[in-house]
Amino acid sequence: MTNGAAAAVSHPNIAFIKYWGNRQDDLRLPANGSISMTLGGLLTRTSVRFDSQLEADQLTVNGQPASEEARLRVSAHLDYIRSLSRSAEYAVVESQSDFPSAAGLASSASAFASLTLAACAAASLELDPRDISRIARRGSGSACRSVFGGFVEAYTGETDLYGYAQQLAAPDHWDLVDWIVVSSQEPKQVGSSEGHRLAAASPLQATRVADTPRRLNLCRQAILGRDFAALASVVEQDSNLMHAVMLTSQPALMYWQPETVQLMQAIRRWREQGLSVCYTVDAGPNVHCLCRGEQAEQVVHQLESLVPEARLIRSGPGGPARLVTA
Ligand code: DP6
Repeated sequence: MTNGAAAAVSHPNIAFIKYWGNRQDDLRLPANGSISMTLGGLLTRTSVRFDSQLEADQLTVNGQPASEEARLRVSAHLDYIRSLSRSAEYAVVESQSDFPSAAGLASSASAFASLTLAACAAASLELDPRDISRIARRGSGSACRSVFGGFVEAYTGETDLYGYAQQLAAPDHWDLVDWIVVSSQEPKQVGSSEGHRLAAASPLQATRVADTPRRLNLCRQAILGRDFAALASVVEQDSNLMHAVMLTSQPALMYWQPETVQLMQAIRRWREQGLSVCYTVDAGPNVHCLCRGEQAEQVVHQLESLVPEARLIRSGPGGPARLVTA
């Protein structure tokens, strides 16, 4: 895949143990490690074509010219890749996602995972998935996880070289379903990058970060042992901890909408009644409702009667980022 052009696809991911806050903002070295499931079925496809005739990088997202802010973020990412390949050529980048972006569905993760894989291939850099993951992290912290399929852990990384993710278990290890309840498609008011910068302003962040190794360990064991009750307990606590930090940052961030709270309460009730189900919420109002595959239909009936207006997207463990025919 040389000739200066390549395309790649990747999936977003849902964090079970969330990354929130950076130790070093410019490199996106995270304040804490994280664990996620790569979300099969939802896809971002990114193509990159380097061209010596161009005077600047060009970016389209879903067929439209991107905002200047997005273009500059992608361009800065390409600058790093150009520095590795000792090239000065600008690129035409086209990115297409088949799911709502900027509403807590981690579109930057699949965008930067696929961009990194495509751009490195287009620049003829021969890199292994760990290197791709490390480079993707510099573009978006959660993107380092979308390079891998299944269940994935991202490390804090002492330095840039060690800030990457690794697979914990393959997609077929555990038949989990994520029902994504899209009750709002409004772009969020404060993006994650700004949110990460505010995290340290919460007096709860240091405690959350210090407790992360315990939660990572519980989550890792729950995944490896396919223990849903243990997973539910740590996933909900971790989500609540991140939102507690958000709510107590200055200025405070409140991503929850009334439906978010309604769903979180209902999901806990359903679990008390015997369903294997739990919630997690990223930097947006939409609830991810996790359950065992064999109970997915029971869970969706509950969701449909509780929030009949919401769009429900079904996902489960997906594969890694991969090159496709340009
Ligand atoms: C709440 O990776 O979107 O989804 O590095 O600025 O692109 P940037 O932030 P991003 O942050 C993800 C935040 C989160 C939790 C998570 O996915 O771990």
